[in-house]
Amino acid sequence: TKEKLELITQKIRPFPDFPSKGIVFRDICPILKDPAALNAVIELFEEHVRETCPGVQMIVGLDARGFLFGPLLAQRLGVGFVLVRKKGKLPGPTTSVSYTLEYGKAEVEIQEDAIEAGQKVLLIDDLLATGGTLYAACELMKKLKAEVLGCLVVIELTDLKGAERIKPNHVFSLVQY
Ligand code: PRP
Ligand code: HPA
Repeated sequence: TKEKLELITQKIRPFPDFPSKGIVFRDICPILKDPAALNAVIELFEEHVRETCPGVQMIVGLDARGFLFGPLLAQRLGVGFVLVRKKGKLPGPTTSVSYTLEYGKAEVEIQEDAIEAGQKVLLIDDLLATGGTLYAACELMKKLKAEVLGCLVVIELTDLKGAERIKPNHVFSLVQY
């Protein structure tokens, strides 16, 4: 586990003042360029899920970088994957929730038939900052009557207290800053 976490940490690049002044942007692109690092991410998530939420029935990925990790994990676990998207991208009947971001405001949306009432789900994204995005996604899950077992992120920016925001839902993060 320690080796895997080192492999992952080495592949996270900080960019000061992106996308605006005062934000240190943690770039996960180098993880995706390195098969060993990407595999380490998925294996650590898989291990955690098998130990703590073996009953999970669906992985819910957040637009856009949750889509990079979610389907890989869902395949490993043998469950399905569904998308929570920024508003206006999904066809058919949808439901949406608006939220504030570390740098801006947005609205997330899901197809109404994406998840059945009572299904046990895990949310996944690349990074937890203020928790606004994951909180909004949790609200979407409430609307569809899904049972949220927890949230998975590669990176948690602990100073921004995102974990507090999404309580009582739990967050599991691999790397903290
Ligand atoms: C980033 C990141 C998370 C979210 C975290 O996405 O990938 O989804 O912000 O911030 P929060 O915890 O304060 O809500 P962004 O909105 O930049 O969109 P993108 O994934 O489409 O680039
Ligand atoms: N990196 C990537 N995505 C983000 C960040 C960050 O530091 N903060 C909010 N979304």
